Amino acid sequence: MAHQYGEVDYWDDRYTNEREPFEWYMGYGGIRHFLTGKYLMSSVDIASDKSQSTNKDMKGPFQSTEDCRVLIAGCGNSQVGESMLCDGFGKITNVDFSKIVVEQMRGRYSDEWYDELYTRLRRERKLGEVEANSSNIGKKPHVRSPTTKEKVEIPTIEKSKMRFECLDLTKKLTSFQDASFDLIFCKGALDAVLCSANTTDRVQCMMNECHRILDDKHGVMIIISYGEPENRLNCFDCNLWEIKTYTVPKPYVPGEKTGSDYYVYILFKKHGRN
Ligand SMILES: C[S@@+](CC[C@H](N)C(=O)[O-])C[C@H]1O[C@@H](n2cnc3c(N)ncnc32)[C@H](O)[C@@H]1O
Repeated sequence: MAHQYGEVDYWDDRYTNEREPFEWYMGYGGIRHFLTGKYLMSSVDIASDKSQSTNKDMKGPFQSTEDCRVLIAGCGNSQVGESMLCDGFGKITNVDFSKIVVEQMRGRYSDEWYDELYTRLRRERKLGEVEANSSNIGKKPHVRSPTTKEKVEIPTIEKSKMRFECLDLTKKLTSFQDASFDLIFCKGALDAVLCSANTTDRVQCMMNECHRILDDKHGVMIIISYGEPENRLNCFDCNLWEIKTYTVPKPYVPGEKTGSDYYVYILFKKHGRN
């Protein structure tokens, strides 16, 4: 990444000129599986009872996907937030230090946008229910349709809306209290911060603040980066985090060089887990 990626003026200019959604590294499809219990459980979570009940579902160590408090760090104009919303994450806060992109994102996700989304999701869910019920037609009587009670228990789609805040992740995040998020998702923003002057202090402040605002018992931070472990693991304090590293092949883009990988660092807040 170029040196200017750590500077707010660079991003303000870029977003002024490039308003269309842009996805750095990879889209939601390439990372969605990391939001499942298989990846979101620390070794302590797995050793505890939590693995029994939630290991395979979307929510991992969290109470529910709907209540999982998500912070998307350095959101830019990525569509990851709206994809997570469609996947049932109901409490999403997006942060970026570019006031230009924050304003654009607030404008894009208007009340009308949410109305359309939830109307579509309701229609799709209804269709899904009809298909599930119609698959019983013609079957032997012992294959029963869902009872009314079961239908009522299908979760309703609430009208959750995402928040957008203009904040510098490398400064004290005074608007967020301790332990106010369950999951922090950071695609490309740490890499951008590493392109600035005074990198060590800024990264340390960012990582300390992320640690502070994560829930003590089950807080997780997912970092998607182009940086290899030998250049990234030194950003994370092993006393504060349990770290798991995964490699994701660079998606094929016609005309672009292939070969290099992306890295997914999953950091589990240590304090309070044991
Ligand atoms: C490489 S882009 C990634 C954007 C988006 N997450 C994606 O995956 O497409 C980095 C983003 O981080 C933001 N950013 C860089 N440094 C930041 C900082 N110190 N605080 C908050 N946001 C920052 C930039 O404005 C930019 O939107």
